[in-house]
Amino acid sequence: MCVLICLCTAALRSTGTAQHFAYLLNTSDYRILRMDEDHDRMYVGSKDYILSLDLHDINKEPLILHWPVSQQRKTECVLSGKDTNGECGNFIRLIEPWNRTHLYVCGTGAYNPICTYVNRGRKPQEYIWHLEPGKVESGKGKCSYDPKLNSVSALINGELYAGVYIDFMGTDSAIFRTGKQTAMRTDQYNSRWLNDPSFVHVQLIPDSAERNDDKLYFFFRETSAEMGQSPVTQARIGRICLNDDGGHCCLVNKWSTFLKARLICSVPGADGIETHFDELRDVYIQPTQDTKNPVIYGVFSVSGSVFRGSAVCVYSMADIRQVFNGPFAHKEGPNYQWVAYTGKIPYPRPGTCPGGTFTPNMKSTKDYPDEVINFMRNHPNMYNAVYPMHKRPLVVRTNVDYEFTTITVDQVAAADGNYEVLFLGTDRGTVQKVIVLPKDDLQTEELVLEEVEVFKVPTPIITMKISSKRQQLYVSSELGVTHLALHRCDVYGEACADCCLARDPYCAWDGKSCSRYSTSQKRRSRRQDVKYGNPIRQCRGFNSNANKNTLEMVQYGVEGSSTFLECQARSPHAAIKWHLQRDNSDRRKEPPGRHTKHVEEGALVR
Ligand SMILES: *[C@@H]1O[C@H](CO)[C@@H](O)[C@H](O)[C@H]1NC(C)=O
Ligand SMILES: *[C@@H]1O[C@H](CO)[C@@H](O)[C@H](O)[C@H]1NC(C)=O
Repeated sequence: MCVLICLCTAALRSTGTAQHFAYLLNTSDYRILRMDEDHDRMYVGSKDYILSLDLHDINKEPLILHWPVSQQRKTECVLSGKDTNGECGNFIRLIEPWNRTHLYVCGTGAYNPICTYVNRGRKPQEYIWHLEPGKVESGKGKCSYDPKLNSVSALINGELYAGVYIDFMGTDSAIFRTGKQTAMRTDQYNSRWLNDPSFVHVQLIPDSAERNDDKLYFFFRETSAEMGQSPVTQARIGRICLNDDGGHCCLVNKWSTFLKARLICSVPGADGIETHFDELRDVYIQPTQDTKNPVIYGVFSVSGSVFRGSAVCVYSMADIRQVFNGPFAHKEGPNYQWVAYTGKIPYPRPGTCPGGTFTPNMKSTKDYPDEVINFMRNHPNMYNAVYPMHKRPLVVRTNVDYEFTTITVDQVAAADGNYEVLFLGTDRGTVQKVIVLPKDDLQTEELVLEEVEVFKVPTPIITMKISSKRQQLYVSSELGVTHLALHRCDVYGEACADCCLARDPYCAWDGKSCSRYSTSQKRRSRRQDVKYGNPIRQCRGFNSNANKNTLEMVQYGVEGSSTFLECQARSPHAAIKWHLQRDNSDRRKEPPGRHTKHVEEGALVR
């Protein structure tokens, strides 16, 4: 017997709404979200305010710290030609844990960056939340002057590493280090190193068990001006050794291990010309068992205004290291093209960390031969680019009226394996929850499990953070911060078939309702099928529970006769798909078109 299945849920878009925080703050620009699950808190940095949210009880009023600039500073800022509200506020751009009781916080300080310490107490029950008096210091090299320029930072062993613009005019970009050791930076006004960068993410990734090999990776986009071509934006991954002390002869107090490579995210077009997604928007780094090899997710959009589109590309550290171990890009002079450097490469290989696996006898970059330092100054760029896994994006959106702006990923254990669930923020105030399943050797199947409107007004999502402990996704925009549950199994309805067809790895039918799946529960009592979404197998005997409003899930057609199969979508967003399936088989085929006539309520099969 053949079975025709009417599938609505494959394209289901249940547009729910997230819960909003009732903030009475008159402020904007909620850019910084810093999760602190040990203290059951999340810190939020906005314009002039630093908040501490209780993760345990999210409806509780947050602890609020007002940290504006003085009236005098504001007046000076306005007199220098800047906008009162848009630029002359104290836009918080950095919140880092400092010690057991304090956070280190920096803001743009009305075009005069400032940093200070916030006492958050030892335990959350203490409800301590105040600025440490008399401890304001300069934020130069830690936070940009202009709130519109993206900066990133990481506080590691008391040293602050930042990708910032360090001047008022916003022309001097640098990867900067401040702290106990001597200040370090990228070569100034050297466009081979950095060229109008926009910093997106920073992450420490170890290279080996030897701590001296530790490298800090910067993700950014920048302008690339090839000879005879108009400047374009390109995505980059750059890195430095944490223990870089700069050169001895030259590059004094400048990074002597800085290297960068291009990140490619593209699809072939119909005409054979690649469409490049070059505008790197956000990066999420998924830790794995092996700390040296996290998985890198990037969200990209198309730069320029020719057409709109965005994509998610995934990179492996193995591919990234291979590019950094490959040829250096070389340019003979301003009127030459970039080529692969084929000359002699000095020892130790440029970009190697001192005191590491390959350089046990050179304790500092100051011990490196002059030729290594000289080589570094002119060859910061790798010749090969980093391609995504499988040489193609994981998710692509073109010909739609929105773009992705942010990404975060959760790993979920389901009955039939582990899944990466992508949460993708858009520029219209929604979050899409997406899984990508392998279909066959070359193809993948993407499922949008749901799209949630997190802000009533369409506004770009700026930052997203997951609280695994609380199973919540926190989302911020210009307008505020909201949260939504990672799983909302009840939206899929009460029937076993609905739950199964939803194919949400978080959810399973427990005999009564669609609820959170947990690996610790007895398998037999839980019905879930993420891979195939096959309710015939999973829900045999349970289908009669489906209420009349939900679609008729499975229609039996007997071969050799004509049958009308009824199928109505229960959601206006749902798309209907018919699949032909032989009994006792998991394989599904598109039904042959010449035998099937689709009408509004169903399909007629001859
Ligand atoms: C909110 O802030 C804006 C600009 O900072 C100001 O113009 C407005 O009067 C404020 N509204 C209230 C209710 O305080
Ligand atoms: C943490 O740092 C702050 C600021 O430097 C300092 O006042 C405080 O005493 C430190 N606390 C601990 C526990 O070290």
